[in-house]
Amino acid sequence: MTEKVLNWLDERLGIVKIYEVVLNRKVPKVNWWFTLGSASLFLFAIQGLTGIFLTVYYVPTPENAYNSIQFIMNGVAFGWLMRGIHHWGATLMVLVVFIHMLRTYYYAAYKYPRELTWITGVVLLLTTLGMGFTGYLLPMNQRSYWATTVGTDLAGTVPVIGSFIFRVLRGGTDLSAVTLARFFSVHIWFLPAVIALMIGIHMYLVIRLGISSIPKKDD
Ligand code: HEM
Repeated sequence: MTEKVLNWLDERLGIVKIYEVVLNRKVPKVNWWFTLGSASLFLFAIQGLTGIFLTVYYVPTPENAYNSIQFIMNGVAFGWLMRGIHHWGATLMVLVVFIHMLRTYYYAAYKYPRELTWITGVVLLLTTLGMGFTGYLLPMNQRSYWATTVGTDLAGTVPVIGSFIFRVLRGGTDLSAVTLARFFSVHIWFLPAVIALMIGIHMYLVIRLGISSIPKKDD
């Protein structure tokens, strides 16, 4: 019965072919360091899922943000779990993506023909850091407020375009409701969209080019 259903679906969707191309690929003999790309992908999915749940109760205004987080922690069923996973997942994702980058660098996986995999990876690292920076302000507690004050001040010290970046980030000269609104929007729309697009290209390249093997001494 199951086989009949699967055959019926496969005739129409071509799932066996998709499975063979995407998952059932030949890979060289590698080690555990090669699992960090998939771990990054998994963490991104978890962050997306828990983030969606958090937006149900989170209110992105200076008056309500802090209280809405308190409500998520104490009043919403499993709210503490969603926030906890999102909070620790963010730190873990930065760490795992960074070590994944070190692994590809160490094994020289950025060389021909994988230059574009590396370049999309660099964008992924920067956008992942951007997610951390924009997410930090959202709870609107003392630490968020002052960390963002310092972060935006720092960005303002960039030569020539510093004051422009500073005003774009804050939406004016002060850290205000406008700053929170744009950090929220960038955190839940702009950056996730760029990350999803970059992961799409990154994965297409990984599937198309295959995983590189560990370089040998006389390579
Ligand atoms: C959200 C972030 C990222 C995700 C989800 C991701 C995902 C993946 C996956 C699943 C693979 C194949 C398995 C593996 O080699 O681990 C891979 C390979 C690769 N990634 Fe990433 N990656 C990310 C960030 C980065 C960064 C920051 C860089 C470098 C700047 C990078 C460069 C590469 C390269 C060069 C390969 C090819 C490795 C090879 O063929 O041996 N990636 N990535």
